[in-house]
Parts: sequence; structure tokens; C-alpha cells
Amino acid sequence: MPAPASLAARLAPSDQLHLVRWWDELAPAAQERLRGQIEAIDFEQLGALHQGQVDQPDWHAAARRAQPPVAMRLADRLTGGGGGLGVKPPEAIAAGKAALDAGRVGVLLVAGGQGSRLGFEKPKGMYPIGPVSDATLLQIHLEKAVALAKRHGKGVPVYLMTSPITHEEQIAFLEANDRFGLAEDDLFVFCQGTMPAVDEATGRVLMSDRGELFLSPDGHGGTIAALAAYKKAGVGAIDHMRRRGVEHLFYLQVDNPLVPIGDAEFLGYHLAADSELTSMAVAKSAPEDKLGNFVMVDNELCVIEYSDFPDDVAAQADAEGGLRFWAGSIAVHVFGVAFLERMLALKDALPFHVAHKKAPYLDESGQLVTPTENNALKFERFIFDLLPKAKRPIVVEYAESEVFAPLKNASGAPKDTPEYVRQFLLDQQRSWLQAAGVAVPADVPVEISPLWGLDAAGVAERAAQAPVAIEGPTYLRG
Ligand code: UTP
Repeated sequence: MPAPASLAARLAPSDQLHLVRWWDELAPAAQERLRGQIEAIDFEQLGALHQGQVDQPDWHAAARRAQPPVAMRLADRLTGGGGGLGVKPPEAIAAGKAALDAGRVGVLLVAGGQGSRLGFEKPKGMYPIGPVSDATLLQIHLEKAVALAKRHGKGVPVYLMTSPITHEEQIAFLEANDRFGLAEDDLFVFCQGTMPAVDEATGRVLMSDRGELFLSPDGHGGTIAALAAYKKAGVGAIDHMRRRGVEHLFYLQVDNPLVPIGDAEFLGYHLAADSELTSMAVAKSAPEDKLGNFVMVDNELCVIEYSDFPDDVAAQADAEGGLRFWAGSIAVHVFGVAFLERMLALKDALPFHVAHKKAPYLDESGQLVTPTENNALKFERFIFDLLPKAKRPIVVEYAESEVFAPLKNASGAPKDTPEYVRQFLLDQQRSWLQAAGVAVPADVPVEISPLWGLDAAGVAERAAQAPVAIEGPTYLRG
């Protein structure tokens, strides 16, 4: 039986009839699945994206008129000054704690990526990164939420974003591990959407099988649409937040186990500045550091990627001789929930970015072709494109050694490998123990579960309760 006329009529105008080439070979369930995939595509939008009709700002020109962002610098935090915001650290900490005590804070953890550079066969969140314990990235993040809830006497709901390729496996893993101690209503897993890949030359959607389009997750910017579009028993993540009274969301990406989830001081600056979006930054150590740059352009906060930032602008010095554009993005933010709701109401609030990639595809005879050159265009939304839309955005600087070690690459790469991340974890936790007066012999690895000590203050409290003796490799837990 040929494809239904309604489907053909949908495909013909955009020259996509090849998608139903093998329709009559498919079982009814596979036909329905393929129909669903096709009906979800906006072919007009796809055609425009293929033809390059994407609103791409002139980043070089933007960088030349940019100003440094409104920020709380690390030196001001450490010396207790009010810095660029006029808010002192103790005031910020008190404000952040009050929001946590009142249950107004949630966590938005995105884990829908494909982790292609790492080359791990499971979703990246299931990577065993704990240097002594082999705890996975997901375990470390969720235990932080459990520890926060205990500290503040109020649940801190975690909104975990997966993608169709990672969803089932992550759900099964979390269930098998009793959500690492999170209460059932404190974990809401939702799945992001996908975008088809198209043939670079023709704009035709690629197929990965006879009844299957080549679909990839639509980028971490897909979070915004997914907050409302994905429903579990009729309830979306955004509905869950409303029911729980969550007003502020601490956003992080699953690959960075150093993130100080729910850090009261960071939340506090966000609240004190009445900001809709607060971003965590680390100071770039050199102009050529491969971090996105936080800058103000025409009074809007933006991230300009390092590849789009002119070298001479990156090298500009400030009055003290430091880098004028110092603020490197580490993809940690606090969003106001009301702001996200406003973004949801704007259809297509975020633009698509185009990437040229190699994508295996079925040729006309139905054979799978593995290309050696880039053959496909993929389309992704980026979360940081939200920044310019936020009112009163601010940036807060943290020390890189305290907050940033993302797992991106397989062993052997110069940076961001499993060994690199483990070393950061060990160094950080050793410094917390030493600051609490605990002796840690050189070269002895010690790992701390967030359930034992969430942060430097938590470790100090614990060490004051009972002596801690470290002789060999140790995992402090429970
Ligand atoms: P990256 O862009 O580094 O992608 O995502 P990745 O999947 O981790 O790795 P590569 O590029 O394929 O090697 C940064 C964060 O954003 C999430 C990832 O899970 C990671 O936490 N992400 C990315 C999503 O949730 N969805 C996406 O579509 C893309």
C-alpha cells in the first residue's frame, strides 16, 4: 500500500517524498511511528534553516561595541566587599538560605546530550567519575540535592532533562538506585525534543533506517520548549514547579561534577539584584581560553563564543592590567521561573545554530552509507541565547578550581578527560578537609560524598563532630 495521500501532500511541496519510499514494506506499527516523526517536523522552518535563513548576529561587530558585564568579582567576594552589585557576601548568603528554607528553589539538570566526544556507551550521566567510589555523575548531582534538602528542611526538586536516546536508560538507572535518596516527588524526569538532520546539498531529511528519520536532540536550548511540551501523566515540568512553589531554578549540565548546586551565596546575589538570570563565571587566564565570553552588548547580556570573539578584543586590558573581558561561561545559571514562563510563551524564543557533521544515512537503494566527509546539517538551540532576553542579568565570579571540571573528552585528550575531572575532585575535597583541620597524607586519594559533606562548610561541620583519620584511599559517605 502506498503512503496515505495526506502524508504525501505534506511532503511533496518540500521535496521530501523520499521519506515514505519504503512505506509499503513497513509493519503497521512502524508506519505509525514514521508518520509521527514526519508530522512533528516543520518543513518550512527546516527549508529556511537549510537555505541559511538563520538570524546570525555579526558577532565580531557586537564584540567591538561590547562592555564587561555587571558582576560580582571573586576578589570582592573574598574580601567581603559589595563589589559591582553593592551586596555583601553575608547578605547574599542569608537571602539564598531563606529561599532554600522556604522551598522556593529547584534544580534544572540537563543530560540529554549524545556525549560523542567521550565515546562512552551509556548516557554520560552514568559515567563512573568518583575517584575512589566510582560514583556516577548522576549520583553526585542527586546526592547534592538530597544533602541540600536535609540542610534546609525542605525538598529541592530536581528537573532532569533527558533525550529520546537517553531517556529509558537513565530512568531505569535512577529507579534501580532508588533515585539516590531523592523523594519521589523531588525528581521530575522530562524528555527533550529532536530535530532532523538534512543532507547538506539538497536539504532532504536523512533517514537512518527504512522507517526511521535521522533525529538528534535539539540542543540544551531545547530545555525551554520541553519544560511544557513533555507531559508525565498530563503534567509538565513547569506545572510541577508551579505546584511546588519553585520560583528559582539552579541550572547545570550533567558533565560537571564540581557545580556547587544550590549555593546560597550565588542564589542570594540573584535575589538581591532582582535578576531574572544570574550566571556563574570563571576568570579567563588568557585571552585565547576556549570559554564563551559574558559581555554586555547594547545593554543585553550575551555569551559570545571564543571562536566568534576577535583576538584583539579578547586581549584588551582593564585599568588594573587584567583582561577587560575576563568572564568565561561555565554553563551554570539561576533562572527565574517567571522568566522561563515568559520565554515559553514566545514561540521559538531561541534561534537555531547550524552544525556541519558526518551523519550515516540510507541511500536511494536503502544501503547505509557512512560518510568520510561532512554531509549533513544538524540544528541545535543553545541555552545561553536566553541571556539577552532577561531583565537585570548579573554575573558572579567563582574560582575555577571550585566549580568547573566538565567531562567532555576520552582519556588522552589534553583537558576535560576522566583523569582531569577526578584530579579536580580530589584536589577540591582535599582542600576542604585540610581547611577543617583533617590531615590527609600526600598521594592518598580521598573522596567525599555530598551526603557526608556538601561543601567546605559541611565538611568543617562534620569534622568538628567526630575526628576523621585518613590512612589509605578513603570514601567518606553517609
Ligand atoms: P555538550 O554540547 O558538551 O554535548 O553538552 P555532549 O552531549 O555532552 O557531548 P558531545 O558534544 O556530543 O561530545 C553540554 C551539556 O548539555 C547537555 C549535555 O547532556 C551536557 O550536559 N545537552 C546537550 C542536552 O541536554 N541536550 C542536547 O541536545 C545537547
